[in-house]
Amino acid sequence: MSTNRQVRLRRRPEGMPVDDDFELTTTARPEPGPGQVVVKNLYLSIDPTIRGWIDRDTYLPAVKPGEVVRSAGVGEVVASNHDRHRVGDRVFGLVGWQDFALLDGKAPLNPIPPGIDPRDALGVFGVTGLTAYFGLTDIGKPVAGETVVVSGAAGATGSIVGQLAKVLGCRAVGIAGGATKCRYLTEELGLDAAIDYKAEDVAARLRATCPDGIHVFFDNVGGPILDAALAHLAMRARVVVCGAISQYNDLSAAYGPKNYVNLIARRARMEGFLVLDYADRFVEGVMRLAPLVAQGKLKHRSTVVEGLAQAPAALRRLFTGDHEGKLLVKVDHPAAAAA
Ligand SMILES: NC(=O)c1ccc[n+]([C@@H]2O[C@H](COP(=O)([O-])OP(=O)(O)OC[C@H]3O[C@@H](n4cnc5c(N)ncnc54)[C@H](OP(=O)(O)O)[C@@H]3O)[C@@H](O)[C@H]2O)c1
Repeated sequence: MSTNRQVRLRRRPEGMPVDDDFELTTTARPEPGPGQVVVKNLYLSIDPTIRGWIDRDTYLPAVKPGEVVRSAGVGEVVASNHDRHRVGDRVFGLVGWQDFALLDGKAPLNPIPPGIDPRDALGVFGVTGLTAYFGLTDIGKPVAGETVVVSGAAGATGSIVGQLAKVLGCRAVGIAGGATKCRYLTEELGLDAAIDYKAEDVAARLRATCPDGIHVFFDNVGGPILDAALAHLAMRARVVVCGAISQYNDLSAAYGPKNYVNLIARRARMEGFLVLDYADRFVEGVMRLAPLVAQGKLKHRSTVVEGLAQAPAALRRLFTGDHEGKLLVKVDHPAAAAA
């Protein structure tokens, strides 16, 4: 009988998640009931939002201790009693940290178009690329000639935002941790300037690199970096609240921005958004991103961590920054390999 390894939440993490917050269990590989599909997971998307899901109710109910950790991922349909999904189809959905996912027709399960690498279906053509596209164009609304600043600029979402800003004719300034990531931003992605928040005075560098102020601040990190940007907004600036990863490990002690009062003087707007709200426009987003990727105007990269059991360690790497671009776990399926 084939088996299904699953990474379950053992208890809610306090601060940075540790291995003991999770447990690896083994059960039988599921069989599909009426209307159900079994997906063999290939890659799991390691996303900052997982930290929220295992902590509390967010835009989705919290994962409870004992449950499989919720995660987006891509996989292949290996058994199906569903009329829209056939064995062999490659699909994207909320598959969870496990070898095989048993899904019913109610959970969104989207086919991966032919020719798309399944890893890119989680990255540049997946949630991260679409978050960058809709967050920047629909909330940030940059105009050619304006200055766009993005935090988390070398990450999966931020790296697309900075390059899109350039495509739209803006000046683009990225904030990232470390000289290597900053060199990547200016030398490989073509941003106009990069700020190393780990080694430089962010407020001083924002003043130096954005002499006309910040017209669009696309924020992935929150905390003191957001605060420094709020102090240097241009008139009628737009602050796009995409994420606040610097705060996710301890929201009870979240850093409250002190400079939000500057929104008044600058007649600025600060707005959060969720990419899920754009689901009916995802095809539009992919159609906009695909030619830019093909033309080499949107470079993207990924870090693949090998093995389902490494998923908790991979999650930590989002917070240490120890990855390049989109962070994925490759599901290893040792039982199948041994058979
Ligand atoms: N609103 C939405 O619908 C939506 C959808 C997807 C993602 N998001 C948000 O977008 C953001 C980026 O997500 P992603 O998946 O693309 O991850 P990512 O940027 O690829 O990885 C996270 C990056 O955050 C940086 N970071 C971690 N701790 C930090 C800290 N204390 N201060 C400053 N930077 C820190 C690290 O880069 P450095 O090495 O530069 O520190 C790390 O590489 C997250 O906040 C996420 O929640 C929002």
